[in-house]
Amino acid sequence: MNPLLIAPSIIAADFGYLRADLARAEQGGADLLHVDIMDGHFVPNITFGPAIVKTMKSLTKLPLDVHLMISRPRKFITDFVEAGAANITFHIECEDVIRTALDEIIYYSRKPGLAIKPRTPLSAVKEYLGSIDRLLIMTVEPGFGGQKFMPDMMSKVRQAVDWRREGGFRYDIEVDGGLNRSTIWDAVRAGAEVIVAGTSVFSQLDLGYAIQDLRDNAREALAYLNEPPVEEER
Ligand code: DX5
Ligand code: ZN
Repeated sequence: MNPLLIAPSIIAADFGYLRADLARAEQGGADLLHVDIMDGHFVPNITFGPAIVKTMKSLTKLPLDVHLMISRPRKFITDFVEAGAANITFHIECEDVIRTALDEIIYYSRKPGLAIKPRTPLSAVKEYLGSIDRLLIMTVEPGFGGQKFMPDMMSKVRQAVDWRREGGFRYDIEVDGGLNRSTIWDAVRAGAEVIVAGTSVFSQLDLGYAIQDLRDNAREALAYLNEPPVEEER
């Protein structure tokens, strides 16, 4: 199992205070910064493009975990590489040839990831699992922050853990949408290792507290899971 990474999602930041919110996330102990890119076509919402990502890169030392919710990721891979993305994850449901897009990301020495929407069966990504560094399992319908976590998606996380073991693959497993101090229990117990959290982190005044609280709950959930059952005293 990989170490737990907390990835605050910048979609929930206050864009009027982007510099300050990035500093708060970094000083608060975030491991990555999750950056949601939406094109108004693949999903019914638009966020921002490479220019803003480049600005973010100049304002933080955190690795940028770029999640492309766009129909044609290939068109923008070079732009996001140049903007400073560490990881580039795009959707299996996109309109491009998956293998070619993965190869392009690898060519630029960035880590490729695949994301999967709630209604797409996990079998859709199976043939690419040996080529990716990150598998992002959506736990809400992509498009908007602040939605309710879908616990049903945990069967996909468990399956992804099994396939990784069976295939000897390297990807880590990321969950995105509705993660908070309660839902993180389900996520880490199923095997998720990269926790994207927008609303539950940026809605707090103290981001350090919010991030630590997620880590503490994850640790507690796993300790409880691994503990042998207590024998009842007679
Ligand atoms: C959905 C977005 C959100 C976001 C996280 O398309 O991808 O899932 O990152 O936001 P919260 O934590 O508010 O669900
Ligand atoms: Zn995302």
